[in-house]
Amino acid sequence: MSSQQAQSTAQKITRVGVIGAGAMGHGIAQVFAQGGFNVKLNDVSLDFINSGIRKIEANLSRSVEKGKMSEDDKKAALSRVLPTASLDEFKDREFVVEAVLEKIEVKRDVFKKLDRICGRDTVLASNTSSIPITELAALVSNPQRVAGMHFFNPVPVMKLIEIVQALQTSISTIEIIRALSLRLGKTPVVVKDNAGFVSNRVVCPMINEAIFAYEQGIASKEDIDTVMKLGMNHPMGPLELADFVGLDIVLDVLDVLYREYEDPKYRASPLLRNMVRAGYLGRKTKKGFYEYP
Ligand code: CAA
Repeated sequence: MSSQQAQSTAQKITRVGVIGAGAMGHGIAQVFAQGGFNVKLNDVSLDFINSGIRKIEANLSRSVEKGKMSEDDKKAALSRVLPTASLDEFKDREFVVEAVLEKIEVKRDVFKKLDRICGRDTVLASNTSSIPITELAALVSNPQRVAGMHFFNPVPVMKLIEIVQALQTSISTIEIIRALSLRLGKTPVVVKDNAGFVSNRVVCPMINEAIFAYEQGIASKEDIDTVMKLGMNHPMGPLELADFVGLDIVLDVLDVLYREYEDPKYRASPLLRNMVRAGYLGRKTKKGFYEYP
């Protein structure tokens, strides 16, 4: 498929599937629905899916209150999100992105099911932040249609999409995802499949270094965050960001970087590891470096 054909294929896509209705998945479903796509949203139970849809509704309502969206557009976007309890209903999807748990066994299972259910040419993307796309692509019969489509939290706000090219990914798959990203109003960047891609390879060691500095008593957590906010113009300090992303996710990424590159510079701070063991995962558990009553 030529680059032009890939772009024309992408322009015609209307039926999208999103697997996972959690923090990333519901945001991904929202931006596709706002972009005019018809979205089937799947998760392990209808309760999870409906909770994701309620979050989309709350986000859209906030935009209506701020005068950034009309009530009619909100209703239209919501009507484009269809809760779908069974993955079997994904057989009519032209494009699927998964945002399930960052566990390799769970993702493997999803890709094997998609291979069985979806058409041979359905483009399959993963929103993973740490699992090799090359490994996921190897699980399906037509691996050149698999790539990473890495969104950032909060999805409706963050402009970047990292498109991750596995060893098997075809150029036309990359072109299709690039064109879809532009249709969502995002800015795509293509990176080769390597641990942490670019985003997490850079940001997680920065967060880790801030945790080491905190552990060593160099400064208070508030001061470490202030240095990076006021000195470097980051919207959040690294410890606030760790809480926002989830300490378990940061640790998973660091462990992958450490394992893959075998370089001690990626060694996770003992404090980070202990906080994860304690269940202090950040905002989602109401306690991380800060408390969220
Ligand atoms: N969902 C939707 N919209 C949201 C939102 C959410 N969860 N949180 C904030 N917003 C919107 C607000 O409605 C507001 O919109 P308007 O400008 O239209 O009014 C806008 O974002 C700014 O929000 P606030 O004024 O409430 O707060 P803020 O100015 O402090 O911004 C923030 C909040 C956008 C989250 C900002 O702090 C920020 O950019 N933080 C850094 C986020 C970041 O680095 N994300 C990447 C994490 S790494 C990752 O996701 C990848 C990975 O693999 C781990």
